[in-house]
Amino acid sequence: MSFGRAVGIGTVSNVTRRQFAAGTLAAGLLSRPAAAQPATPSVRLPDGAAVPALGQGSARLGQGRHPAAEEEEALRTGIALGMSLLDTAEIYGGGRSEQLIGRVIAGQRDKVFVVSKVWPDHATAGGIAEACAASLARLGTDYLDLYLLHWRTGVADLRVVVDSFERLRSKGRIRRWGVSNFAVADMEDLYRIGGGDRCAANQVRYNLQDRGIERDLLPWCERHGLPIMAYSPLGQGDLLSNPALVRVADRHQGSPAAVALAWTIRSGRVVSIPESGSPAHVRENAGALSLRLTEADLAELDRGFAT
Ligand SMILES: NC(=O)c1ccc[n+]([C@@H]2O[C@H](COP(=O)([O-])OP(=O)(O)OC[C@H]3O[C@@H](n4cnc5c(N)ncnc54)[C@H](OP(=O)(O)O)[C@@H]3O)[C@@H](O)[C@H]2O)c1
Repeated sequence: MSFGRAVGIGTVSNVTRRQFAAGTLAAGLLSRPAAAQPATPSVRLPDGAAVPALGQGSARLGQGRHPAAEEEEALRTGIALGMSLLDTAEIYGGGRSEQLIGRVIAGQRDKVFVVSKVWPDHATAGGIAEACAASLARLGTDYLDLYLLHWRTGVADLRVVVDSFERLRSKGRIRRWGVSNFAVADMEDLYRIGGGDRCAANQVRYNLQDRGIERDLLPWCERHGLPIMAYSPLGQGDLLSNPALVRVADRHQGSPAAVALAWTIRSGRVVSIPESGSPAHVRENAGALSLRLTEADLAELDRGFAT
C-alpha cells in the first residue's frame, strides 16, 4: 500500500493543498481481492495523501511493559486490521520504540505510514538532520512519511525548523512534516514564516475527558485544512470505566475503548493513535473502524463526560 494521492476508495482527485476530506482506504492484506476488502476510514492530508483514521502509538512500547514479541504481534495485528499509521519518536524509550517499530515494518514498509518526532533539544540547524538520520537508522527505513517537531518549548527559532524540515523533504528523507503540542498562537507564529503553512498535521492530546482543543485549536485547524492527530485518545486507559461510555458500548455490542476511539475520529478530520502492546486490546480498538456513533450516543457521551 502506498499513501499517495491515488490511494483510497473515494479519493478526491483534485484536492487543493488546503482542502481535506474524510474518505476510506482499502484495508487488510494485499493478497485479498480489492473488491472484498473492507473500507477503512481515512483522513486526507493537505498534500492529498489519505492516511488511516486509526493508527497506533508507541510511547511506552519496547520498554518491557509487555514481552517484546507480544508488542510486535500487537502492532502487526493492528496493521493487518487497517491501523497502519505508526506513531513513534526519537525520545520514546531512548530509541527502543523506533527499534521495535523497525522490526515490525521490516518487509512491509510499503504498507505502513511511519510518523516520528524530533525532540526540541535537537531542533537546531544541523541537529534536525542528524536526529532524522538516527531515527531512520533505528527504524531501518530510508524515509519517514511524516516528521514532527515534538514540542515547541525550548525551540529558539521556528524558521530553522521549517527550513530544516523542507531540506529533508527535498532530499526525500521525509515525505512531509508537521508539529505537535502547538496551540493556536504557535500555529499562527508558524504560518507567519515562509513555508510554515506546508505543515501537514498537528498532534495534540484529545479524548472524551480532555476536549480543550474544541474551543479554539480544532476550529482553527479546520479553517486551515490541517488535520489533528489525537494522542492519548483513551486517556491512557483512565476513561474506559466511565458509565456513559460503557452504556454506549453495550448498545453497540462493542468495547468502551472502541467507542472512545470512534468518538475521536467521528469528524473525519482527526487521526487517532491509541497505544497498545496487547493483541487482544488492539483487536478491540480496531472495532472503532466500523463503529458509527449516533446523535443519541454523542449526546449521552457529552453528558457522561461533562465536568
Ligand atoms: N506528541 C506527544 O507529545 C504525545 C504525548 C503522548 C502520547 N503520544 C502518542 O500517542 C500514543 C497514545 O497515547 P498514550 O499512550 O498516552 O495513551 P492511550 O493510547 O490513550 O492509552 C494507552 C494505554 O491504554 C491501554 N489500552 C489500549 N487499548 C486498550 C483497551 N482496548 N482496553 C484497555 N486498555 C487499553 C494501554 O495498555 P495495553 O498496552 O496493556 O493495551 C495503555 O496503557 C502514544 O503511544 C504516543 O505515540 C504523543
